[in-house]
Amino acid sequence: MNKQSKEQFVHQVFESIADKYDMMNTLLSFRRHKAWRKFAMKKLNVQPGQSAIDVCCGTGDWAIALAEKTGREGRVVGLDFSKNMLEIAEQKKSEKQYDHLELVHGNAMSLPYEDHTFDYATIGFALRNVPDIHQVLTEMTRVVKPGGVVASLELSKPVWPGFKQLYYLYFNRLLPFLGKVFANRYEQYSWLPESLKHFPDSQELGRMFETAGLEKVEIYLLTGGVAALHIGYKPRL
Ligand SMILES: C[S@@+](CC[C@H](N)C(=O)[O-])C[C@H]1O[C@@H](n2cnc3c(N)ncnc32)[C@H](O)[C@@H]1O
Repeated sequence: MNKQSKEQFVHQVFESIADKYDMMNTLLSFRRHKAWRKFAMKKLNVQPGQSAIDVCCGTGDWAIALAEKTGREGRVVGLDFSKNMLEIAEQKKSEKQYDHLELVHGNAMSLPYEDHTFDYATIGFALRNVPDIHQVLTEMTRVVKPGGVVASLELSKPVWPGFKQLYYLYFNRLLPFLGKVFANRYEQYSWLPESLKHFPDSQELGRMFETAGLEKVEIYLLTGGVAALHIGYKPRL
């Protein structure tokens, strides 16, 4: 699949599954995604008054967690190219009455912000989906301030022997069927294992963080490597 058709395909996937996305995430990950998100927030240690952009924010969970930490004196942007995903994020935002959270329709490949704007740039379960990982990491690095933080929480390639084989059986074979049964979407959920096949392992992604200009890269493997958190720092001027 070339870059443009991947982008169009991914866009169509998320436009079509938006209303089931949160429920399916919880079901398919056995609720693990909530623990992974909590772990990521603990490591980021966001402080009141800081600013953050959550790229590919989807239905907004990470952006909302960031907005909780920055408080109203801070600023958080959630950006996504799926209007249907953003609509659900908007509902959650209005329930919380978070005026300091701004939801923006945009493309991760070209962020509509000046250099050195945010303290943090995060991306959750989405680097697998973008047409060019290097470009997105470079964009995220560009928009954070010197000394700022870029973080990705993403599915990865499990490392525990035994568990690994069992996991792939679930992920490659069973998961698309669960997608069909619970969300009536087979093709869209077959995309999930497919997208991981071509995605770098955690060490390689760590090197891509460095190539994008980040330093002191930290890698945390979660649930035996089913997911990984990468954190990198933009060098101070
Ligand atoms: C698996 S969802 C993750 C959503 C959210 N970050 C989370 O943690 O639940 C991937 C999201 O990336 C968005 N996305 C994929 N490619 C994008 C791009 N090039 N620009 C902006 N958003 C993109 C999709 O619309 C979708 O909402």
